[in-house]
Amino acid sequence: MNMNETLENLRGSYRKAALDINDCDKNPEHQFDNWFKNAVIGECDEPNAFTLSTISGDRPRGRIVLLKGIHEGKLVFYTNYSSAKGSELAHNAHVAMTFLWLPLQRQIRIEGTVQKVDALLSDDYFAKRPRGSQIGAMASPQSQKVASREELEGLFLEAEAKANGKVELTRPPHWGGYAVDPVYFEFWQGRDNRMHDRIAYEKNAGVWNLSRLAP
Ligand SMILES: Cc1cc2nc3c(=O)[nH]c(=O)nc-3n(C[C@H](O)[C@H](O)[C@H](O)COP(=O)(O)O)c2cc1C
Repeated sequence: MNMNETLENLRGSYRKAALDINDCDKNPEHQFDNWFKNAVIGECDEPNAFTLSTISGDRPRGRIVLLKGIHEGKLVFYTNYSSAKGSELAHNAHVAMTFLWLPLQRQIRIEGTVQKVDALLSDDYFAKRPRGSQIGAMASPQSQKVASREELEGLFLEAEAKANGKVELTRPPHWGGYAVDPVYFEFWQGRDNRMHDRIAYEKNAGVWNLSRLAP
């Protein structure tokens, strides 16, 4: 079978659940919370992983990152502020987040703008990370070209040597959190015959308005 035949024949059916607008919580954060709990119980792999889409000039760019908290309604992830995404966000704060929970046949889309989180929140989360991840964050010039795997491992060893003997490691200034202030949520539940349920929440003047979208 060639690649295109394989692709054309890959076809799943979506029949696990339904989503009615009347059953949705009026607050999308609570609806997100309900579905997230289901994703954890439903044994979705990495349920906090989402595609973060940013804008680079007139080009969209996407990559997976991990949701690490929701603080005062804002969704927080951590990364390298000097990375490609970091400079994209410095130029354009608009982002889209896309979660896929395939075992539940669910997708959630969120749109909003980011701000760097308070340094104390980043410090607090950095302190909770495993030491190896802390050293990795200190060592890696995320998104920059490196000549080889050996060079990368050399950077890790260098950072590890600097950390040697320190019980607690300080967060490097190039690493920290961003908080997404959402203005749009969409909850997608796969249904039979591609007649999926889509419930959108749009924030207008501080009020969330719900509507159903065609699949
Ligand atoms: C499952 C998974 C989780 C990831 N989590 C993060 C994360 O929380 N933060 C992060 O900076 N990169 C994370 N990455 C790596 C990013 O996808 C990406 O490679 C990196 O952030 C560099 O992106 P950029 O060059 O566009 O800035 C993750 C990748 C995967 C596959």
